[in-house]
Amino acid sequence: MSGSVTPKRLFIKTYGCQMNVYDSERMADVLAPLGYGMTDTPEDADLVVLNTCHIREKATEKVYSELGQIKRMKQARAEAGGAMTIAVAGCVAQAEGEEIMRRQPAVDLVVGPQAYHQLPELIARAHRARGERLAADFAPDEKFDALGAGRRPSGVSAFLTVQEGCDKFCTFCVVPYTRGGEWSRPAAAVEAEARALADMGVREVTLLGQNVNAYAAPDMQGGLAALVRRLAKIPGLDRIRYTTSHPRDMDEALIAAHAEVPELMPYLHLPVQAGSDRVLKAMNRAHTAESYLRLIETIRAARPDIAISGDFIVGFPGERDADFEATLQLVREVGYASAFSFKYSRRPGTPAAAMPGQVAPEVADERLQRLLALLETQQQAFNDAQAGRTLPVLFEKVGRHPGQLIGRSPYLQAVHVTAPDRMLGQIVPVKVQSAARNSLAGALELEQA
Ligand code: 5AD
Ligand code: SF4
Repeated sequence: MSGSVTPKRLFIKTYGCQMNVYDSERMADVLAPLGYGMTDTPEDADLVVLNTCHIREKATEKVYSELGQIKRMKQARAEAGGAMTIAVAGCVAQAEGEEIMRRQPAVDLVVGPQAYHQLPELIARAHRARGERLAADFAPDEKFDALGAGRRPSGVSAFLTVQEGCDKFCTFCVVPYTRGGEWSRPAAAVEAEARALADMGVREVTLLGQNVNAYAAPDMQGGLAALVRRLAKIPGLDRIRYTTSHPRDMDEALIAAHAEVPELMPYLHLPVQAGSDRVLKAMNRAHTAESYLRLIETIRAARPDIAISGDFIVGFPGERDADFEATLQLVREVGYASAFSFKYSRRPGTPAAAMPGQVAPEVADERLQRLLALLETQQQAFNDAQAGRTLPVLFEKVGRHPGQLIGRSPYLQAVHVTAPDRMLGQIVPVKVQSAARNSLAGALELEQA
C-alpha cells in the first residue's frame, strides 16, 4: 500500500491563444499528482499532449503532420522497450473528436476543453488499455475498500469475491486508479467455490465486488442475475446476497431476480452518495436524484419489503446548504434500513481534490451529524416495523448471554434469541419481540424450543 510515485515526463505543446496557455498549465496541475513532471523535449516524454488551436486555416492539417512526427518518436520508444502516450487536447480535439484517432491510430486519447478535469481518468484508461497501471500518489484507504471489509472465512455465512475493480471514476474515489478496471471472475470458478463452501456447511454467501452488479462473466451470459440464479440451485445454499452495487448497473434482470429467486435476500446496498444533481454531476455519478428514486421505486415494485442501504458523502467540494438539504430530502423519500455516511476526504490525484469550493471541516461535521441523526431514525423505524412479525433467522454464533444465539434476519438485522446451540447453522422462524437501533430481540415459536 505504498504511496510512492513513479516519476513520469510530460511534454505539452501549446498552440494558439492565451486560453490554451492557461489550459496547458491546468493540465500539468491535474497530472502532477499522478507523477508527471514537465520536460522540454517530446522525444523522452512518457506523455505528449498537443493542446491545439482551430482558429487559423489548415490548423487541423498541421496537427496531423505534427502527430506524424510524434508517432515516429513513439515507435522509437517502443523499440527501446518504453512507452509513450499521445493525447490531443484543445479546439481541434473538440472539432474532430474521435476522428483524430481513426486518422492517426498512434493517438491514445482525445480530450476537449470541457473535459480537462477528466484527464487523470482518461490517462488511467489509456494506460490500462496497454495493460499498465498508474502508480498514483495516494494509498488505497482500507475504509473505502469494500473487498477488504470484514472477511469471514469460516462459519455459516461466507464472502465470495466475484468481481474486482471499477470503471466508474467517481471524482472523489481512488479505486479506479488503485484497483484498475472492472474484472469478473468466471462463473464456473465462482460456482465451484460456492459448492465447496456449501459442502463445508455454509448456508449464506455474500457475493463481493466493488461493482458487483457490473458482473460480466467471460463464460456465462446474463450478468449477476444469471449468476445468482445459478448459485441458488446449489443444495444447502439457502441465502444469497451481493454488495456493492452501482445504480447504473441495476438492470431489469437483477430486479426480476429479487422478485423471483427466494434465495436472493431482500436487502440491497445501493449507494447514491448525494441528493443534489449538481453535486452528483460533479461526482461523475451518471445518475440524478430523480433517476435513483425511480430505480428504487421499480425495485420496490418487484420486492416491496426490500431493505435499502446506501453510502453518503457530505461536504463534497462545492456542496452548498441547499445541496445538502437535497440529500436529506432524498433520504426522507427513500427510507433507508441502514447506511454508511462519510465526510468527504480529499484524495490527492482524484479530480475532486483539485475542485474549488472545498468545504470547511466544521460545516461538513455539522452536516454529517444531521444526516446521521436522520438515518438513525430511519434505521430504528425499519427495525420497529419488524416487531410482531415472524422472520426466518439464520443462527450464526453464540451470544454473550448463556443460552443465547445471534442470527440474521433476511434484512441483515442481527437478531438475539434464546435458543439451543444445536440450532447454530439453521434457519429457524423467530417471532420478533423488540427492536433496538442495531438489533432485534426475538423468541422461538413454542414448538421448536
Ligand atoms: N471521501 C469520502 N468518502 C469516500 N468514499 C469513497 N471515496 C471517498 C472519499 N474520497 C465512500 C463512498 C463509497 C464508500 C465505499 O466510500 O461513499 O461508496
Ligand atoms: Fe469508487 Fe465510484 Fe467506483 Fe464506487 S463506483 S468504487 S465510489 S469510482
